[in-house]
Formats: sequence, structure tokens, C-alpha cells
Amino acid sequence: MTSSAPTPTNPHHGNTTLGVAAIGYAFMGKAHSNAWRNVASFFDVPAFEQKVLVGRDPEQVAEAAARYGWAEYATDWRAVIARDDIHIVDICAPGWMHAEIAIAALEAGKHVLVEKPLANTLAEAEAMTEAARAARARGIQSMIGFNYRRVPALALARELITEGRLGTIRHVRAAYMQDWLSDAETPMTWRLRKETAGSGALGDIASHAIDQVLYLLGDTVTDVSGRLHTFVTERPGADGTEQVTVDDAAWATLTLASGAVASVEVSRMATGQKNSLQLEIYGDKGSLLFDLENLNELGFLDATLPVREQGFRRILVNEPEHPYAGAWWPQGHIIGWEHTFTHQIRDFLTAITTGTAPSPSFEEGLAVQKVLAAVEESANNKSTLTVVNY
Ligand SMILES: NC(=O)c1ccc[n+]([C@@H]2O[C@H](COP(=O)([O-])OP(=O)(O)OC[C@H]3O[C@@H](n4cnc5c(N)ncnc54)[C@H](O)[C@@H]3O)[C@@H](O)[C@H]2O)c1
Repeated sequence: MTSSAPTPTNPHHGNTTLGVAAIGYAFMGKAHSNAWRNVASFFDVPAFEQKVLVGRDPEQVAEAAARYGWAEYATDWRAVIARDDIHIVDICAPGWMHAEIAIAALEAGKHVLVEKPLANTLAEAEAMTEAARAARARGIQSMIGFNYRRVPALALARELITEGRLGTIRHVRAAYMQDWLSDAETPMTWRLRKETAGSGALGDIASHAIDQVLYLLGDTVTDVSGRLHTFVTERPGADGTEQVTVDDAAWATLTLASGAVASVEVSRMATGQKNSLQLEIYGDKGSLLFDLENLNELGFLDATLPVREQGFRRILVNEPEHPYAGAWWPQGHIIGWEHTFTHQIRDFLTAITTGTAPSPSFEEGLAVQKVLAAVEESANNKSTLTVVNY
């Protein structure tokens, strides 16, 4: 780990070793821990220390802390946030806890990385964004974990679109398909209760798809039409059958300020689809194709070529010139899903030491949340076209 030059607005720089605490040690806790563990082996980042991993069960969190490279474990996140040797709080807990932890951490002067979606409700997301704004004025940074922005192929897609290689974008197809709920006997989890998850496939995976539409196009959504559906309304719970109170699948069309139209389709019951985030972007000068299950590749059609030479070319996004790729292996030695989290930590640490606001910011997380809320409102009103209020 190396140290970086201090900046005047930055309270955590220079010779300070940044103390990191992560909250949550299950799925995302493991993915983030892995990134904290390997980021300094591949990227120049400031000195930091994996100080504390926080969870509720002392035995399990102790085991996870030892396994994932954390110096200590704890069960009370409030006590951890109060510590002077903690400068960064990485929130890997479920959505119902995001607002409370993030706001407390920001107010305590800690830089905050929080998993997506920003929160379970618009009111919480707005309060978090307000806290992030106030903290930013004091040099405290915050970021939301839309990690797919850090897939090299999608970062390249963004570069190509920004450079105008697709011309005027007319429409986008974004589909995020999973099947882990296909079996009607799959038991209840916090993800299937509205009070803990906020929504179902909508907040869980449409949030990623909508963030990609906004990120790739650099655009905003003006109105939406949405539909939500729950195919299996009851599932086995700890005390017998329990009601599922969120959607299993969601559909939406989004109108963008540029005039482009995007369709978004997400499901956790698309039998046979494991984790397929597919994006198709169509412009008057070219088109792009991407599938997360093949994340080292980007399909690019250049419609400015003579028609007889046109066709989708497969770009293996593994050259040193490609975003993030130069830090890893020689050309063609492909990377995977977990690398996106390493890139995320690298970008977050860089922002902290340079004193620049990282992206995606809480404002960007709130923009996604507003689209999600409008989709839900539209769905509740028979798919009526619903304006997104910024
Ligand atoms: N970026 C991605 O690709 C991605 C993928 C999956 C989940 N997520 C997001 O990550 C977040 C967490 O999801 P997950 O899949 O890791 O959930 P999970 O159920 O696997 O883990 C949740 C963790 O939070 C901990 N936790 C709950 N209450 C706590 C408390 N009071 N104090 C301390 N720890 C507490 C649990 O012990 C557990 O370790 C959610 O916001 C989810 O949407 C993001």
C-alpha cells in the first residue's frame, strides 16, 4: 500500500493510514472484503487497514473476520463508527439499514461506501443524499456500489458513447434476468418482505439496469410506465407459510430527456437465467451489445462503415488501453465478476485521497431511486405514464 499526496480539503490524507470498517459479512460482505484484500496488489492506492468487520452473531462474524483478513470483529456498528481510528465505513448490510448507518457515519466524519439500492424508500434516500451533501462540504466522500459501472466492457461502452461513436441514441434494451426464485418452495428471506427489502426484483436488480441506462447514456429519465408482478405469493417461512410482499418481476419503459426510449425487464424467476444483465444500445451511427455472463466482451457495430463490411465485432476488453484492464493480467487473461468490486474500492480510495467526489454519488443513487418509485407508482395505477420528479 502506498500513500498519496495530501489535498487541502481532505481530512484523511498524507501519512494517515485509513482505517476501514465493513458492516455485514455475508454475500456483499464477502465480495467487498475480497476487494479490500487484493486492491493494493494491483492498484496504487493510499495506505489503509482492514480494521473491523461488523455483524450480529459474534461467533460467525469472528470467523468471517479471520477468514477475510479483518484485524478485529464487532457486533455494535454504532460503537465502531464512534472510533477515531475508523475513517471509512463500507455498508454491506440490507437496504433497511442503509439510511441509519450511512447518515450516522457521515455525521461522524467517516467516508461511506454503501451497497445498492441507496435505500428502501425515497424519503430515506433523500435524507442520505442530504447528509452526503453536508459531509462533502467537510471533505467527507460517499459513493453507492453500482459495481457494474466498473466492468471494463461497460466502462468502454460509456467511452464509445461519450465519443459519439453511436451517434444519436434512439433506444436501449436493458434486461436483468435471474432464476433463484423459480422454485415455489424456495423459502422466505428478507429480500421477499417489503418492510426489509423495499421492493423485489425492482429495487434489487432493476436498480442496476436503470443505473446502467443513466450511466451509459449520461441522461435522465423524464417519465415511465411500469408493471410489477408476483408469481408466487406465499412461500415457506420459519413459522409456516408466509406472504410474499414484493414483486418477482418488473417491466418498465423509460423516456429519457434526450428523446431516447429504454425498456427495462427484470426477473428473479426467469428459469435457466442465472445472472444475465443484458444491455443493447442502438444509435444512428452504431450499436453496442453486452451480457454480464460474458463480461470480458463488448459487441460493437459501426454503422458508418460501408454496409457490406458491417457486422457486430467482438471486442475482447482485455487490452492495457481498456479501462482497468492494464492493472491485471497480460492480454486475453480474462477477469471476472469479483474484479468489479476491486475497481470500486480503488476508485473510492482514489477519490478520498484526491479529495474529489466519487461517482456514482448518493445523488446518482437518488436519481435511480426516483425512477424506481415512479415505476412502482405507475404499476399501482395500471401502468399509467408517470412523470419522474427530480
Ligand atoms: N452490487 C451487487 O451486485 C449486489 C449483489 C447482492 C446484494 N447487493 C446489496 O448488498 C446489500 C446486502 O445484501 P447481501 O446480499 O450481502 O445480503 P446478505 O443477507 O447476504 O447479508 C446481509 C448482512 O448484513 C448483516 N446485518 C444485518 N443486520 C445487521 C446489523 N444490525 N448489524 C450488523 N450487520 C447486520 C447480516 O449479518 C449479513 O452479514 C443489499 O443492499 C443488497 O441489495 C448488491
